[in-house]
Amino acid sequence: MQIEAIETPCLDWTGDALAVGLTHADLELTGDWAALDERCDRALSEAIATGEFDAKTGNAVVLRLGRTSAVRKLIAVGLGDRDTLDLNSLRAASASSVRLAKNAKVKTLGLSLPSLETAATAQAIATALRLADHTDNRFKSEDETKGVTLEAVQILGLGEQTAALSRAEAIAAGTILARELVAAPANAVTPETLAATAQQLASDYGLQLEILEREDCEKLGMGAYLGVSQASDIPPKFIHLTYKPEGTPRRKLVIVGKGVTFDSGGLNIKGAGSGIETMKMDMGGAGATLGAARAIATLQPDVEVHFISAAAENMISGHAMHPGDILTASNGKTIEVNNTDAEGRLTLADALVFAEKLGADAIVDLATLTGACIVALGNNIGGLWSNNDHLAAEVQAAAAAAGEKFWTMPLEEAYFESLKSPIADMKNTGARAGGSITAALFLKQFVGETPWVHLDIAGPVWAEKEDGVNNAGATGFPVQTLVQWVLA
Ligand code: BES
Ligand code: MN
Ligand code: ZN
Repeated sequence: MQIEAIETPCLDWTGDALAVGLTHADLELTGDWAALDERCDRALSEAIATGEFDAKTGNAVVLRLGRTSAVRKLIAVGLGDRDTLDLNSLRAASASSVRLAKNAKVKTLGLSLPSLETAATAQAIATALRLADHTDNRFKSEDETKGVTLEAVQILGLGEQTAALSRAEAIAAGTILARELVAAPANAVTPETLAATAQQLASDYGLQLEILEREDCEKLGMGAYLGVSQASDIPPKFIHLTYKPEGTPRRKLVIVGKGVTFDSGGLNIKGAGSGIETMKMDMGGAGATLGAARAIATLQPDVEVHFISAAAENMISGHAMHPGDILTASNGKTIEVNNTDAEGRLTLADALVFAEKLGADAIVDLATLTGACIVALGNNIGGLWSNNDHLAAEVQAAAAAAGEKFWTMPLEEAYFESLKSPIADMKNTGARAGGSITAALFLKQFVGETPWVHLDIAGPVWAEKEDGVNNAGATGFPVQTLVQWVLA
């Protein structure tokens, strides 16, 4: 599917289908809307009169026009209230237009939406179009998308927007890489596959790559990370990919993603009804880290960025950690593993110690860390914790611009009480209450003075069903936030 932006206003456009976004106020059909309605043999006013189209968010109709019309179909998409119109309304309308156009076997689609700031508008629309068009047929033996395909979308009335469109393509490609890594099952994406993906990115984009093998990690004393990987037949891969700009970088940043390619729970095995069959997505942090690397390497900002994942599989075997084992992390701290299913934080502990040593300006980690965060915030909002209000505000601003949601959560020191161990420096699992907060407090033990943000993305990496901008399945969350943060 080709995406273009052209200055042509919607009244002059010709092609298979024209999609237009209307707010409640536009239902009066004055000015250009009246002219459009006229050209469409009043199909639009009729749909409004019958109540089929009411311009509410999520409401849309496909209207078949007369044979003599310059467009065969008119797609009207609801944008809700004019006062609350924002880039997210435009993203959802763009995604819905693509889905309806594909359903209606449209080949060429013109899309006319109100403009906010033009470059940002074009970027948001183009990214949403590309992501809505993405389907994953890698594991189907037959191509189910045979027949008419949507060949081209022309975004109308915003000018050519070359720079915005290429930014959108880079961001969407990174998001799709993350989606495909997350959606692939655990027998297709292993720590070795993640390392191979990093290798491919390094050679495609000229990035530096360091892969630490098990022995290298042993030398660095990464006992927490290696404890998690020790029951698996697949070796751990500690991935460290670096993008360096030409000249002196404006900032040096680190992104650390949890890369547990399958989380069985270990000997504290996940039981029936625990969602164990969905635990291929427990490398969502690593997937988004590599997706962001791809986008950033394409966009070439003047910022040095390190992409890290301590990739491992959390399995059971005769080599498995026993519940109660004591591990020593690479900063010398000892951990009593009172629950082998709290494995993500163990891998992140050593990854954060490694990240801290890079002497960066900021570290952001992202992890499908706790079911508790899903209980707290639901499936569409990630949790955000930070030791630095300024950095937290930066990441929140990036997320708002990217249309991804995070809620800032407390690093409530008093809650560390439940992580205290009688025998080691700490336990890896605290009280059930506030479980996503104690997980964040655990991570904090492995970060020093560097400004740090922890993102719990357990909910939003996966969409049960299509919603607004997301297709069902892996979402690629929060690649767009990460890229926006690095570029800002
Ligand atoms: N990978 C899970 C968290 C998770 C749960 C992600 C559901 C996505 C959906 C994590 O490793 C885990 O098992 N966490 C435990 C922690 C508990 C043992 C303290 C949890 O959330 O139950
Ligand atoms: Mn687990
Ligand atoms: Zn996990």
